[in-house]
Amino acid sequence: MTQHPLIRNGYYGEFGGQFIPEMLRRNFIDLEQAFEDAWKDAEFKSTYADLLRDFVGRPTPLQRADRWSERCGTSVWFKREDLAHTGAHKINNAVGQVLLAMRMGKRHIIAETGAGQHGVATATACAWAGLPCTVFMGAEDMERQQPNVERMRLLGAEVRSANTGSQTLKDATNEAMRHWIAHPEETHYVIGSAVGPHPYPMMVAEFHGIIGEETKTACQTKGIKPSHLVACLGGGSNALGLFLPFLDEDIELIGVEAAGAGVESGRTAATIEKGSPGILHGAKTMILQDDEGQIEEAHSISAGLDYPGIGPLHAHLASTGRLRTAAAEDEEALQAGLLCTRLEGILPALETAHALAWTLRADWSGSEEVILNLSGRGDKDLKNYIQNPGE
Ligand SMILES: Cc1ncc(COP(=O)(O)O)c(C=O)c1O
Repeated sequence: MTQHPLIRNGYYGEFGGQFIPEMLRRNFIDLEQAFEDAWKDAEFKSTYADLLRDFVGRPTPLQRADRWSERCGTSVWFKREDLAHTGAHKINNAVGQVLLAMRMGKRHIIAETGAGQHGVATATACAWAGLPCTVFMGAEDMERQQPNVERMRLLGAEVRSANTGSQTLKDATNEAMRHWIAHPEETHYVIGSAVGPHPYPMMVAEFHGIIGEETKTACQTKGIKPSHLVACLGGGSNALGLFLPFLDEDIELIGVEAAGAGVESGRTAATIEKGSPGILHGAKTMILQDDEGQIEEAHSISAGLDYPGIGPLHAHLASTGRLRTAAAEDEEALQAGLLCTRLEGILPALETAHALAWTLRADWSGSEEVILNLSGRGDKDLKNYIQNPGE
């Protein structure tokens, strides 16, 4: 993993690194070594592959979205991560990291969550493994994503509310980090996106690489030559999972951020478009910050995109021009999600709905083959959809 051509001493170009307290130094040395060994170990990989097949339900389908394609005026395919166990891509990484934690002899799993999908995925993997699990979640997100809070509790996890700051994902991450620093020996922290200090961004991306690998295989089988890969960007894990195996190919990569009330409104989560380089949660990346380097609150209707940072690998890919970014506002994401429900019979997560919204207004010629990562299902967002039913 550390040998990945994109990594140099834990950095991707100028982004990444390992800005951690001394107390966690040992954990990071151990984690890096453990993942490197595990990823080379045929037995670990085969156990992981078995779990992805039998527990997670992979491979997920690559489905042509006929009526959506008609609306967009070009060919659009959905990679159906909403059909993975627990309803989103997050489970790929949760299962992988819990397996790794077991191999490392860790006795307690902690996680942060925004939309609750990563929390549910981690609680699910922990129930399977028989390991105690604590999930940190912002108080505001607990309110927004109540069904997922209940699911985590049913799975046996303890859900701890983060009551500082905006009471969202950033604050939940702070609380999880604090807990880890206080209990470094027995705990493994399952970070839920391709963010945080090295080796997390690449490790999380590798665990999600299965999304892109399956997409490649399905494209070969179905005779599709993809021209564009599109995904929403929270911390960046579903996007990287899809993009990773295609990085060296002549395919356009588009990451859709949450514009919130508008990129220029001051109430946004469009971190790459509006942010500047700085350090957040142990990595140098693009972040929303004021002139004094204080983190600014992000805003998005979608709890999973409401984060003032982005994974450092995305920051790097955007800075080199390999990744093109766009942004979709709250209202257009809501409407796109509702439209997808009516046209395709798929109620998407509000996070995913941002990527969908962009495909509706992109300037297509009609000859593209677009693959959109349908990162999750929208049951958790019912309240928001019902309150804004559109036409
Ligand atoms: C369904 C779904 N899609 C996307 C995201 C955004 O995260 P990431 O950018 O890491 O894929 C989330 C986060 O919670 C999510 O639940």
